[in-house]
Amino acid sequence: MSKVIEINDYSWKYINTKSPALKKINLSIEEGSFVGIIGPNGSGKTTLAYSMDGLIPGQYNGIKHGTVNVFGKEVEDYKTGELQRLAGVVFSDPESQFTAMTVEDELGFGM
Ligand SMILES: Nc1ncnc2c1ncn2[C@@H]1O[C@H](COP(=O)(O)OP(=O)(O)OP(=O)(O)O)[C@@H](O)[C@H]1O
Ligand SMILES: [Mg+2]
Repeated sequence: MSKVIEINDYSWKYINTKSPALKKINLSIEEGSFVGIIGPNGSGKTTLAYSMDGLIPGQYNGIKHGTVNVFGKEVEDYKTGELQRLAGVVFSDPESQFTAMTVEDELGFGM
């Protein structure tokens, strides 16, 4: 099985914080696997998810060390929008992502 996600010695510190949200993470995920990441509030689950779909560092300012490789490419090497076709995030409150009152309208909005 090939590795679809390969994270090596990865640390991320949001620009306005003193200590890193993620510190020296090493993780590899194989194609076809179903992985759950658990931890207490503030332990960095969302930060890790954002790091794997390019929201971090794309949309957040901070300091990064180490590497995050998704589908064989470092996240920084993807063009804008390219990685988001391969990896997506559902936010903690999915309802806040809806724009419309019906499924039809919601699907139409995306198109
Ligand atoms: N935009 C941000 N700017 C600065 N610090 C942040 C930001 N987002 C998260 N953090 C900090 O990073 C750390 C990890 O937060 P994160 O939201 O990734 O944790 P989490 O495990 O997803 O928490 P929860 O279970 O509450 O969803 C926390 O200390 C949090 O305060
Ligand atoms: Mg979270």
